[in-house]
Amino acid sequence: MCGIVGYVGSAPVAATILESLRRLEYRGYDSAGIAVLNGHGIDVRKRAGKLKELAAAVAARPLQGRVGLGHTRWATHGAPSEVNAHPHVDCAGRIALVHNGIIENYAELTARLQAAGHRFRSQTDTEVIAHLIEEHAKRLPFPKAFRAALQELRGSYAVCVVAEDEPERLYGARHGSPLIVGVGRGEAFLASDVPAVLSHTRQVMYLNDREMVELGRDRLRLTTLAGTPLRRNATRVTWDVAAAQKGGFRHFMLKEIHEQPHALSQTVGNRLDARAGRIGFDRATRQFLDRFTSADKLAIIACGTAYHAGLVGEYMLEEFAKIPVDVDLASEFRYRGPMLDRRTTVVAISQSGETADTLAGIRLAKAQGARVLAICNTVGSSITRESDAVIYTHAGPEIAVASTKAYTSQVGVLTLLALHLARQRRQVKEPQWRDWLHTLARLPQLVERALKAEAAIKRIAKRYAAAKNFYYLGRRYHYPSALEGALKLKEICPSIHAEGYAAGEMKHGPISCIREGWPVVVLALDSPVYDKVLSNIQEVRARRGSCIVIASEGNRGIARHADALITVPRTPELVSPILAAIPLQLLAYHIAKWNGCDIDQPPNLAKSVTVE
Ligand code: F6R
Repeated sequence: MCGIVGYVGSAPVAATILESLRRLEYRGYDSAGIAVLNGHGIDVRKRAGKLKELAAAVAARPLQGRVGLGHTRWATHGAPSEVNAHPHVDCAGRIALVHNGIIENYAELTARLQAAGHRFRSQTDTEVIAHLIEEHAKRLPFPKAFRAALQELRGSYAVCVVAEDEPERLYGARHGSPLIVGVGRGEAFLASDVPAVLSHTRQVMYLNDREMVELGRDRLRLTTLAGTPLRRNATRVTWDVAAAQKGGFRHFMLKEIHEQPHALSQTVGNRLDARAGRIGFDRATRQFLDRFTSADKLAIIACGTAYHAGLVGEYMLEEFAKIPVDVDLASEFRYRGPMLDRRTTVVAISQSGETADTLAGIRLAKAQGARVLAICNTVGSSITRESDAVIYTHAGPEIAVASTKAYTSQVGVLTLLALHLARQRRQVKEPQWRDWLHTLARLPQLVERALKAEAAIKRIAKRYAAAKNFYYLGRRYHYPSALEGALKLKEICPSIHAEGYAAGEMKHGPISCIREGWPVVVLALDSPVYDKVLSNIQEVRARRGSCIVIASEGNRGIARHADALITVPRTPELVSPILAAIPLQLLAYHIAKWNGCDIDQPPNLAKSVTVE
């Protein structure tokens, strides 16, 4: 993880870099640093803690210059301390560098450089890159020394470097971690992600793996690591910086929860072609899906919340399209020796498009001849570029670490995919098809109505905020909902332990923990297994557990089985995972708020997991 920024231009360098770093804080926030070429040498400031600590240090001792770089860290090697914060410098302090990724051979490189006399200050895997460049620069001009150093690295990196001998230049390279160039007038940026540069320019160029870039105020030289020159145009980003601001909400997470009706109208609504009676995927996606035959199978890979969306997708694809589906955590898939071939389509789901395990799963799948379809929110990200086809979720930028609108948009795309393939494989009759499209067209309004329960959910959250353990239970489509509800809560409220289970599994172990007042969130929406869920509620209450029940509106009988009741609009089961997600997200949010948690930036987490 980590966010990196580099700047060359005529704006005040420290203020520009700090502003850009603020937009990358979602990538890590345990320490931060900045380095500036000031005409005499390199001036570095670093602080443990959040970016505001660094901003205070810079305000106390201002930095001057026209070229610089900055970093916000999520520690992988070495504690989140000032000495381990980036930028890291070489022995002479003439080269400064920021890095996102993991250098796997740092220990052997460090040993070699120490033997050659280099003095290391930190416990990071990053510092070695600065010393390696310094070593090569003894006999090579800087750009060549940089390239030679990169060629010795194993692992993943996006790096940004400045050097005293190159006072007007900024250098960057990537291999396995994201890096973009923001191309302005008389200025240029390097950054881990687009929001970092959007208030300055919308012209963005995406770097590929094993590419290197040299930037000046009016200079951009792109090459491979081997030095071969490359040509690439910048692309224009269409969304603006306002889409990445809080817009009056106290937290990004709450804003993003409330953005779901709009996000779903982009994801689902815009793809419903009611007149033609079809789902309007773009041509490339349709062609990709047309090649799907009855012998094909699907393998879904993803991590975290995206994995839960994948589990919902599995139920739908098997039920409606009658396609065999495997769902794997990408971190397991890549190491379990999956059996893939040309008849397998791998569906990789990712909000960021940069998750290292998911990307590695895609590479493995392609190496075995499988085709890859990405479901992704981030245009131009690594996962979209390495996949054969992409269905974008179009949920807009998601800043809060806890994923909300990206999840419901992923489920939305999987629903469209399941229905499209059901029709393509003649598994659905016309009246049923029309019903499905009608339900999907109402989805944004239904979600709007589900959001109206927020005041009631806030009261329920207050009642249960002091509890230390929660269970979440559901069956069928709501087994993944239960996993996702529990993940949301433990993610943003670290003092609470929460687990999600398939309700039928309770008797096989977890029920032994239930005691008086233990909160159990039960997903009891209308479904063919509703009666079975009701029995699970009785089992919990018989042990004096306290059931917070999420049910369909108009279910009169459920109130007497619930210690607290939340309702969502009554709908066909097809869209119920999306509706159920709303109260689960709001419940987690308000419990975390009553507990005074750092909701948008929970400890130990980062938005984009670009390391294994
Ligand atoms: C949870 C969350 C994470 C991500 C996971 C995958 O709220 O945000 O569990 O879902 O790290 O990230 P992407 O979707 O970017 O691949």
